Formats: sequence, structure tokens, C-alpha cells
Amino acid sequence: MAGDARWYLSGMSSVLISPSILSADFACLGEEVRAIDNAGADMIHVDVMDGHFVPNLTFGPPVIKAIRKHSKKPFDVHLMIAPVDQFIADFADAGADLLTVHPEAGPHLHRTLQSIRSHGMKPGVALNPSTPVSALDYVMDEVDIILVMSVNPGFGGQSFIDSQLRKIEALRKKIDETGRDIILEVDGGLKPENAPAAISAGVSAIVAGSAVFKGGPEAYAGNIAALRPES
Ligand code: DX5
Ligand code: ZN
Repeated sequence: MAGDARWYLSGMSSVLISPSILSADFACLGEEVRAIDNAGADMIHVDVMDGHFVPNLTFGPPVIKAIRKHSKKPFDVHLMIAPVDQFIADFADAGADLLTVHPEAGPHLHRTLQSIRSHGMKPGVALNPSTPVSALDYVMDEVDIILVMSVNPGFGGQSFIDSQLRKIEALRKKIDETGRDIILEVDGGLKPENAPAAISAGVSAIVAGSAVFKGGPEAYAGNIAALRPES
């Protein structure tokens, strides 16, 4: 778990890039994390899948703990698992900084978010493409990050679903009304061609897997830079 000194995201103006290690070479995950850190990643996006909530399996807390020492940047952990609550302490112990859950993963979202915060992490909610903005109506005070899924969760390399731009616009308004510094992140099918539309709609963070890891380590810095608006 990160100490406050390492929590440097708040107040940063440029869009944050959070490469998803789902597209990394799993045979050398520590080196891959170091490579994206050196290439300019702002966070490390970690997709945890259970083969039940989504039709794919990845990894859990022991793997996160093992790669944690390869970067000092925040670990942005996206849980696609159900149930969640009994694993929250394990993800905190593994070194997650942000822990994002789907509302459909359990019956008591508010309690889950409070539990994440009580374990020293930043709570987040992820909305599937079909999940409405209203799922957040009574938990806005509890979240530090909102993740808009612009593909159906489970796999990297899918195509961006354009209808999610409207959801991003609605969430930007909803966040601004709170006056709180909530990160608005988009995840799925992001590329240099569609990142500007997501940024115009209001995101402050972009997850990208295949677009960052294509071409191997020499290409990572260019791939990350190509997702930022000034490129
Ligand atoms: C999908 C994951 C995404 C995915 C993004 O379930 O949440 O983080 O890895 O991969 P790309 O950028 O390839 O769509
Ligand atoms: Zn993700």
C-alpha cells in the first residue's frame, strides 16, 4: 500500500495514462512493469479476472505483490471478480493503491467502498457499457475514481464502444457538481485515434493495453506519448 507521499495524482492537469499489464509479456512481468514506468506511465493498471464475473482468468494478490516492487507508481487495480469483500485486505496487503469494483459484483456496494477506504486504498466504481450512470447516485461521496468500460470486460484488444462517450460526458458533469477531485478513467479499445474524443468528453485518465504494449519495450514511450493530447 502506498504512503501519502507517493499519492501524487491529485491536481495533475494532463491526462493520466494507465497501461494495462493484461497485454504485457507475462513471462517477464516485473521487467514489463519497469519498462512502462520508465516509458512515462502515470499508473499501472492491473486487471484481475475470476473466470466467473467475466469469461477470463488472470491473476490475484500474490502476483500483484511480486510486481509491486518494480515500480513506485500507483497500482490502479481493476477487479472483475465476484464476490469482492473477502479479498479486500489481500489486495491492500499486495500493494494496490486504487481498488475499483463493479456494482454488479456484490449486493452492498456502499459497504464495499467503505471497506476499501478503511484498508487505506482509494475506492473506485467501474461501469460496464450497459450500466447506467445512476448506479453511482448514492455513492458519489465514497468514490475517488470512476472507470467507464468502453468495451465489455474480459479481454484486451476489443473495439471502443462509441456510446460510452455520452456516459463520460454525463459523468464529467456529475463529478464537477461534487466539487471533489474524482478521477474519471476510460478503459477498453483506447488508441491515439480515439483518445482525443474521450478526453474532450471529460476523462482525466486513460487505460490502454494493446496500444501501449504493441511493438515491444522500445516502442512503449512513443506509444504512451501518442495517447496524450499534446502529442
Ligand atoms: C478489459 C480490461 C482492460 C483491457 C484494455 O476487461 O479491463 O483494461 O485490458 O485493453 P485494450 O486497451 O487492449 O482494450
Ligand atoms: Zn481494466
